[in-house]
Amino acid sequence: MDTSRREFLKTSSLLLAGTAISLYGMPVRGESENKPAGMPKRTLGKDFTVSALGLGCMGMSANHGPARNKKEMANLIAEAVDLGITFFDTAEIYGPHTNEELVGPALSRYRHKVAIGTKFGLYYPDGRQVEDARPERIKQAVEGSLKRLKTDYIDIYYQHRIDNKVPIEDVAGTMKELVKEGKILHWGMSEPNIETIKRAHREFPVTAVENQYAMSFRRHEEQTFKVIEELGIGLVAYSPLDRGYLAGKMDGKTIFDPKNDMRASFPRMSPEAMEKNLVIIDFLREIGSAKNATPAQTALAWILAQKPWIVPIPETTQSAHLKENIEAVHITWTEDEMKEINDRLSKIKLTGERYTPGSVAAKSVYDLI
Ligand SMILES: NC(=O)c1ccc[n+]([C@@H]2O[C@H](COP(=O)([O-])OP(=O)(O)OC[C@H]3O[C@@H](n4cnc5c(N)ncnc54)[C@H](OP(=O)(O)O)[C@@H]3O)[C@@H](O)[C@H]2O)c1
Repeated sequence: MDTSRREFLKTSSLLLAGTAISLYGMPVRGESENKPAGMPKRTLGKDFTVSALGLGCMGMSANHGPARNKKEMANLIAEAVDLGITFFDTAEIYGPHTNEELVGPALSRYRHKVAIGTKFGLYYPDGRQVEDARPERIKQAVEGSLKRLKTDYIDIYYQHRIDNKVPIEDVAGTMKELVKEGKILHWGMSEPNIETIKRAHREFPVTAVENQYAMSFRRHEEQTFKVIEELGIGLVAYSPLDRGYLAGKMDGKTIFDPKNDMRASFPRMSPEAMEKNLVIIDFLREIGSAKNATPAQTALAWILAQKPWIVPIPETTQSAHLKENIEAVHITWTEDEMKEINDRLSKIKLTGERYTPGSVAAKSVYDLI
């Protein structure tokens, strides 16, 4: 190794807490013994305090390739708790049911110090997407979730998709009853439009909205952010790595199996879009290199830097990725740096919608509102 490279590596490792030299000779955050301690917390809504980064658990059981080994995933969940994660995301529809059956028991010995978010109201009988938030159906759903999660309370219970057949006031009223009964502690909605958020919150205060939010998907900044900030509602950012793409390991040659991976049907994840969108990966690598951060770490840190009331819930099924992602909480930028990053980011044009335009899935996420 030449002297200048050795000096560069030495200086980098001295300057950056939490940084070490990887096998490839490049500094990588998170491999050091000498890490900055502690996982910061964030508060959603009035008083729902969780780790700044949560863990999305869906792909452990469904929708992102074959279900993974249950014992290995339970160990990964335990490792996440050891690393400071206190917020875990699941839903009755993931599997269906098998993800809750994994997550609840895996967390039972830590139950007092972790929060579980689960969801109701989205079903796929015969493969068709159906929303059902009738109060009687919610009451049935919550009993099922509590049983599968092996717990007597759910920390945050989300309506997975809005059901236009049921007034949101009826859903909020049902949430109020469930809180009174102690079955849930907080409630939220996934992908509601802004009118629905306002009406729901008026009826019974909403703690968090769970929406897709990532460097490559910023649509909710326009309207939703303004409304939830005013009302004091938090944002749980799902697909913060844009379904894994922002980790920088995918391109036009990446193939998803349509039998078990929902990404096979997303225009944003088509080979053509993934090849064209590599421009954002180049950008991530460029801004990440100044912080010795990987694309995944940079993409997650960028979300955390936007608002203090956002908690991203990246999913992973791999211990190495978990450790890598967690280091994102230690990356910061100055206001001027972030302004420049966001100016440049807004000029990057990406290809491919998240859901097929006109499909039931696309309509139910209020893309155009
Ligand atoms: N409310 C809703 O409607 C909704 C919709 C979708 C998802 N969600 C929730 O949000 C969670 C996260 O969303 P998501 O899974 O769609 O997207 P995501 O978190 O953006 O991406 C997950 C993918 O990224 C990969 N990944 C993670 N860290 C990585 C790293 N450091 N390097 C390389 N690859 C990495 C994972 O693969 P590996 O397993 O190989 O690491 C996984 O395939 C889900 O688990 C689910 O709980 C909610």
